[in-house]
Amino acid sequence: MIASMEFTPFDLEHHQSIWEQQVDFNLTESGVHPMRLEELLGDDQGKLAELLATEINYPHVNGNPELRENIARLYNGAGVENLLVTVGAAEANNLIVNTLMEPGDELATQAPTYKQVWGLALNAGHVVRPFHMLSDRGWALDVDDLNAQVNANTKIIAVCNPNNPTGYIMTEAEMAAVVAAADRVGAWILSDEVYRGAERLREEETPSFFGRYDKVLALGSMSKAYGLPGLRVGWVVGPPDTIEDLWRRHEYTTITAAMMSNLLAAHALSPEVRPRLIDRTRTYIRNGFPVLERWMQQQDGLLTCVPPQASAVSFVRYDLAINSTKLMEALCRDASVFIGAGDSFGVDHHLRIAFGQEEDVLNEAFGRIQKTLESLA
Ligand SMILES: Cc1ncc(COP(=O)(O)O)c(C=O)c1O
Repeated sequence: MIASMEFTPFDLEHHQSIWEQQVDFNLTESGVHPMRLEELLGDDQGKLAELLATEINYPHVNGNPELRENIARLYNGAGVENLLVTVGAAEANNLIVNTLMEPGDELATQAPTYKQVWGLALNAGHVVRPFHMLSDRGWALDVDDLNAQVNANTKIIAVCNPNNPTGYIMTEAEMAAVVAAADRVGAWILSDEVYRGAERLREEETPSFFGRYDKVLALGSMSKAYGLPGLRVGWVVGPPDTIEDLWRRHEYTTITAAMMSNLLAAHALSPEVRPRLIDRTRTYIRNGFPVLERWMQQQDGLLTCVPPQASAVSFVRYDLAINSTKLMEALCRDASVFIGAGDSFGVDHHLRIAFGQEEDVLNEAFGRIQKTLESLA
């Protein structure tokens, strides 16, 4: 159990704010290499003319209808009334914690994970109870731990599936265990699914928690599976009355995502364009991981990982007596390569290495990392 009276900074994003714009190689970005606008539009002159003629007004505060229709198509049984468009999944996580959690409520969260929901709950004075995934079982969910951490005070069970930082995808049995734990105490499931569509080892998309239980809020984003992080568009899908409650908070936080982002996201998620984007993301991921794997194999057992099933990151264990944040800082300073520290996910002696880039970029960055590792060893 974790509780804190002091402000807990968002470690990972804090490091990114400091380093990402000043290094030669940024290998912390968990999505693939971002798309250029001209790549997204292709030779669709009609779309370009439509965008140029757009008045840059406020869009629909809950998301333009065409965008919500295109998102709803990604979830069995969802309609536009189930959807709220947000400024990235980051805003969605924020709205959910601040709307649902009341004094005395607890958060149960998968660990390791992207620690935004975790930090938000701690900073609002809630008790956080992590339940673990086990590295020696290929990052499988420890169902006994899940059941032990969920109690009558649990308001939200937070999962990230596919998982950041491990790239693990839950089995059907594990998803059923999460639903059963939530149902036992009437808790909500907050399912961060921003890597859905970014599968490496299978064609079938990761199933959503939406539709498996009545109290599910599932999140998506343009940032990871679609390679469009700068649009700052995410969403929540859930029961219409709760979506209305989140919308009331959204009016206080950002009012709305940007007009141009609504239009570009709707274009990207249209049935004609979306498959091309998913294909691009998977090509980066499927080509990039073998480059990382080959390089790791040359390091005499220094680096090991459970190969990720999805996402553009791998959670790599290193066998060196140096703390992961210190190692991350040494790599930024000495090699101008930025990678995520295991500490940011609560697991020291790990690095989160992104591989969703071109092969020559990866080879150059890995070569530089190697020199720093050799100097430390
Ligand atoms: C699991 C997860 N959820 C949410 C976010 C926030 O994404 P967005 O860019 O959509 O705000 C990130 C960003 O790294 C993430 O990894």
